[in-house]
Formats: sequence, structure tokens, C-alpha cells
Amino acid sequence: MNRILIAGNWKMNKTVQEALDFIDEFKSYKINADDEVCLIAPYTDLQILRDELSGTNIKTGAQNCHFEESGAYTGEISVKMLNEIGIDYCIVGHSERRQFFGETDAACNKKIKKLIEHGIRPILCVGENEKIREEGAQQSLLSKQLGEAFIGIDPGDVPKVIIAYEPIWAIGTGKTASPEEAEDMCGFIRGFMSGLFSDAIGECMSILYGGSVKPNNAKKILEQKDINGVLVGGASLKPDSLYDLISIASDLKKNN
Ligand code: PGA
Repeated sequence: MNRILIAGNWKMNKTVQEALDFIDEFKSYKINADDEVCLIAPYTDLQILRDELSGTNIKTGAQNCHFEESGAYTGEISVKMLNEIGIDYCIVGHSERRQFFGETDAACNKKIKKLIEHGIRPILCVGENEKIREEGAQQSLLSKQLGEAFIGIDPGDVPKVIIAYEPIWAIGTGKTASPEEAEDMCGFIRGFMSGLFSDAIGECMSILYGGSVKPNNAKKILEQKDINGVLVGGASLKPDSLYDLISIASDLKKNN
């Protein structure tokens, strides 16, 4: 609960060679044994990242998966395939997948179940667009997204799911939610999960904020009570800015 996760989402960036160049530079930085770091990379980079990062505590994540075990789903990647190469996390329901690839809450629910079955931690993304925020309907949208995503999940498995609050209006726009806005929504998520399951489960959920997190705004966000880490796109593409974020998280932990 008091460990801060810095998860870098590379999205559709970095060829294998570019990933190797990144790791080459990144290895020159000192990562503490208790720093929680995850690189969420394109499928083609995952195996090489696992190989290059073996013996370190840096984890790897996929950006998507299919919810069926295997079969005639051309172009898809199964959770079993991710599990075999040692992937630790997988994003579910990122807003870009919801927006451009029609990922639904029902699909998120099935993916979460399949990931849990194979021991990979889902990172479920939820968040509202600008219009919904202007209408003040963000909490009801999140209630729907979370309510449907957790249908039929065994309460004992619920804390395995990491929830990332990512307001769409803040993703890749340079417009971050203020630390208070981010805390307000992450606190709402915690309360919602308490209501859906129990106070004990709500308390131990790991909740991330994502949306234009950079080294210059991360500290105030990570200081918020209900925020346990950040999901970072743009600022995770350069080893030095990712390392700055890890250092900020590391200092906060020490000061706790
Ligand atoms: P960003 O992306 O940090 O570039 O805004 C965050 C995300 O989409 O996970």
C-alpha cells in the first residue's frame, strides 16, 4: 500500500533497437531494490525487455491482451503468451483502446478475469472526457466503468487489480488534473470500491493517476493520500525523465 508504482506506458513507440538503446542508458541509473517500476511496452519489445531486465526489480507490462484462452482471433495476443515470457502487468481499457478500438466495459471485465487466472496484474484504466467533466458526470461514468469491470470478480482477487484514473482531457495534452482534482477522483474510486466490496478491500486497492505526469508535477500528485503511483506516457519515453520520476517516488517513500 505504501509503495509507489511508476508505470511507463510507451504506447506505439520504440522498435526493438530503440528499446535496447533505452535500456542501455537506463541501466546506468541506480534503481533501489524497493522502487516499484514497470515498463509497459509494445508486444515486439517485451521479450527483449524481459531478457535485458532479468536480475533487476524492473517489471514489464503489456498494453492489451485478448480475453479468450486461444483460438481464431487473428492479430490478437493471449494472456497465456504474456505469462510464458514473464510479463507482470497488463493494461485493460486504456482510453485510447476504448476510443479507437471500441474496447467496452464488458470486454474489460473478461480481460481482467483472464489476466487474474494467469497471474498477471491488470491495470484497469478509467476516466472521463472533457464533455463529461463539464457536465459534472465524471463520478457516474466512473461508477459505470468500475461497476461493470468488476462484475463476478472474486473479492479475494479484487486487490490484484490496479486502477488507473486517467482523465482523457489530460492524456498527452500537457493539461494535468490538479493534485486536488486527481485526489478527489482517486478518493472517489477508493470509496466506490469499498462500497462495492468492503472497506478493507477499498483500503488496499492500488490507485494510480495518469495524464501528462512529468517530473515537474509528479511530487504533488504522488503526495496525495489516495494516489499510489502514476501511469506515465510521454515522460516515460526518455530514460532520464523516467528516472527523475522514480527518484521523486523514492524520496517520498523515504520521507513517509
Ligand atoms: P501521457 O499519457 O502521460 O502522455 O499523458 C498517459 C497515458 O495515456 O497512460
